Amino acid sequence: MPEVNRGALGTVPAGSTDERSAAIAVRKMFDEIAPRYDFLNHALSLNVDRLWWRRAARTFAHILTARNTAVLDLCAGTGDLSVALHTMAEKQGGSPRIYALDFSHPMLQHGLRKYEQRKIQPLEADALRLPFAGESMDLVVSAFGFRNLANYDSGLREIWRVLRPGGEAGILDFSEPGGLLGKLYGFYFRRVLPRIGALISGTRGPYEYLPASVQKFPSPPQMLARMKAAGFTEASWTPYTFGIAGLYRGRKLQRGHSCPRQS
Ligand SMILES: C[S@@+](CC[C@H](N)C(=O)[O-])C[C@H]1O[C@@H](n2cnc3c(N)ncnc32)[C@H](O)[C@@H]1O
Repeated sequence: MPEVNRGALGTVPAGSTDERSAAIAVRKMFDEIAPRYDFLNHALSLNVDRLWWRRAARTFAHILTARNTAVLDLCAGTGDLSVALHTMAEKQGGSPRIYALDFSHPMLQHGLRKYEQRKIQPLEADALRLPFAGESMDLVVSAFGFRNLANYDSGLREIWRVLRPGGEAGILDFSEPGGLLGKLYGFYFRRVLPRIGALISGTRGPYEYLPASVQKFPSPPQMLARMKAAGFTEASWTPYTFGIAGLYRGRKLQRGHSCPRQS
């Protein structure tokens, strides 16, 4: 089992010096690219992102179809994971309350049409200070957002806090595949994607930040160790598309399990 680094670990965008400045830089970056975000996302991933959101949503069908379910999509941005969750639930006769939370106003604004059509509740708030009571959510998910938090352990503890006992967490994010595919993909991800991203969005920062932040993100064994340290049980990682991305899952134990240390 890998060691959990007890020091704070989180994203560090260029120029940031602490958690506060990191969060401000991240928000500014997404505020800027919000108008082109959906287009670029689909183009740069060749639409594979849609499959990933749907696959993640399918994983949680058992929660989405239960009665009186509350679901939080953390770092929801323009809302595609929220939409996938809603569609999955609707198909199978479920009607969960879905909250799409993000701290970038323009990102939420650009998803408004999707949110309104489906009665998904957009919420402008910080993932590290969730505006929810403890034990109020049955499912907390995040797609490509968790990696951008300024403190991963605080993020995991907030997710754990708002989950009801028995509730589940799902974190979908990029990973770095190994082998020849990893090398080829690394070339695309680090050399090609930032150039196309910069060309279309008109700004270089965000698409240079993307591969850099993936490189610094904990590896699956390290991330699983952090989830366990935050109190999650049944922590697992399922690779998607040869490990280019993957879904972390964890469960908050039913009552009787002691609360994790808040160090
Ligand atoms: C790469 S986008 C992902 C959006 C969406 N989940 C998707 O799959 O397309 C990352 C989002 O995380 C949001 N974000 C980053 N840090 C956050 C924080 N501390 N609190 C709330 N939102 C945050 C950003 O504003 C951005 O919209």
